[in-house]
Amino acid sequence: MKIIMLGAPGAGKGTQAKMLADRFGIPHVSTGDIFRANIKEGTELGKKAKAYMDAGELVPDELTVDLLIDRIGKEDCANGYILDGFPRTLNQAEKLTEALAESGNIDFAVNVDVPDEAIVVRMSGRRVCPACGASYHIVNIPTKVPGICDRCGAEVVQRKDDNPETVQNRLDVYHEQTQPLIDYYKALGCEVDVDGTQSMQDVFEAIVARLEA
Ligand code: AP5
Repeated sequence: MKIIMLGAPGAGKGTQAKMLADRFGIPHVSTGDIFRANIKEGTELGKKAKAYMDAGELVPDELTVDLLIDRIGKEDCANGYILDGFPRTLNQAEKLTEALAESGNIDFAVNVDVPDEAIVVRMSGRRVCPACGASYHIVNIPTKVPGICDRCGAEVVQRKDDNPETVQNRLDVYHEQTQPLIDYYKALGCEVDVDGTQSMQDVFEAIVARLEA
C-alpha cells in the first residue's frame, strides 16, 4: 500500500504516519526527517537545506525530488510506504506520478484537516527528542518527567522552525503551494479527508477505517 499524508505543518502527519507504519508494516518516509538527519550529520545536502527550513520555506525541488524517488526505490519500500511531507508542490506530485507510472500510483492521499488556529497551538507546544526522534506536546502528549524523553532519557527540545514567525510562514507556504495537492489527488480519485482535530487515537482509527473500507 502506498500512502501520502497531506495536511498543514503540525496537523499530525508525522504522528499518524508512524502509527500507520506500525499497523501496516511499511516504512514511514519523511522528507523533513531526512533533511534533519542530514543537518545533524553536517552533509552538503544538510547545509543547503538548513537555511530554507529555518526560514519556513520549502527546500527547492531539485534537492528534494530525486532524493525521495531514490528512497522509495529501496528494498524496504517494495511492499509500499507512507510518505510524510512529500509531495509538497504540484511539480513534486507530478514527478512522483511519473516515477510510479509502471509500478502503480498512490493508493491513498490522506488529508489530515486541522484549522490554522489549532496548528499554532500544536506547534508552539511541540517538543522533540534530538536523540531518538520521539515527538511530544507539552499539554496534549507530555513527557512523564518534564523535559525528558520517555523513550531514551535525552532532553527534549523545541524544533527551530516551531517559533511563531516561522510557523506563520510555513502556514502561508502550505496554503499557497501544498494545499492545491488536495484537488490534484481528488482528481486522481484517491484523496481521503480526515478530521485531524480529534484525539490522536480517534484520528488513527478514522484513517484506518477509511483505508480498510
Ligand atoms: P516537515 O518535517 O515535513 O514538517 P511539516 O510538514 O511542517 O510538518 P510537521 O513535522 O511540523 O508536523 P506534522 O504534521 O508531522 O505534525 P506532528 O505529528 O509532528 O518539514 C519541515 C521542513 O522541511 C519544511 O518546512 C521544508 O523546509 C522542508 N521540507 C520537508 N519536506 C519537503 C518537501 N517535500 N519539499 C520541500 N521542502 C521540504 O504533530 C504536531 C504536534 O501536534 C506534536 O506536538 C504532536 O504531538 C501534536 N499532535 C499530533 N496529533 C495530535 C492530535 N490528534 N491532538 C493533539 N495533538 C496532536
